[in-house]
Amino acid sequence: MFRATVLTLFPEMFPGPLGLSLSGDALARGLWSCEAQNIRAHGLGRHRAVDDTPAGGGAGMVLRADVLAAALDATAAPDDMRPRLLMSPRGAPLTQQRVRALAAGPGAIIVCGRFEGVDERIIAARALEEVSIGDYVLSGGEMAALTLLDACVRLLPGVMGKQESGQDESFENGLLEYPHYTRPREFEGRAIPDVLLSGDHGKIADWRRAEAEKLTRARRPDLLRKS
Ligand code: ADE
Repeated sequence: MFRATVLTLFPEMFPGPLGLSLSGDALARGLWSCEAQNIRAHGLGRHRAVDDTPAGGGAGMVLRADVLAAALDATAAPDDMRPRLLMSPRGAPLTQQRVRALAAGPGAIIVCGRFEGVDERIIAARALEEVSIGDYVLSGGEMAALTLLDACVRLLPGVMGKQESGQDESFENGLLEYPHYTRPREFEGRAIPDVLLSGDHGKIADWRRAEAEKLTRARRPDLLRKS
């Protein structure tokens, strides 16, 4: 089973939206698990402090390395082989390739940052892999963790209805996905392309490939250069 453990100051955010729809059904069916651990349980003193002012001055607060270490060590036994991720806008951009690799593994331990950041020393001390979901800044890592988990869970065996629904989609073949149509045949003067109604599966496949390439060239030429 794919086991997700999330270290967060907002455990109520999990499973959140992942408790619904495809991932929620899979959760209920025991295809994956989602455990949220409150970092504050390892906070210091009467106020269970988890953060402190940045060394060198500046705005905001920094999550303490000792608190995060205690939270991580209480969660992950030394023989826990799950990757340890830190959601951070500084991280390596998340890709479908990384998602596929994570989904094929035992799960993940995911640390959600808040405030201005986390003490740099915890990243090295616990070999955290920093992961970003895009070039924009969220108020914390929780939404990023939910996004990453959603992307992983839908790939787990038995989660998606039709196994092939994962094969043709965007990024799986280095291209954006071709356009889809369904009834009615004409909508506000726009017809479904004739080829899709021709019944010629060879021609349909060629058309879809050409459309996918056209779309990728127009919107994401960087993907074409990569493949
Ligand atoms: N935390 C804040 N912004 C983030 C981002 N873009 N990706 C991952 N974690 C984040």
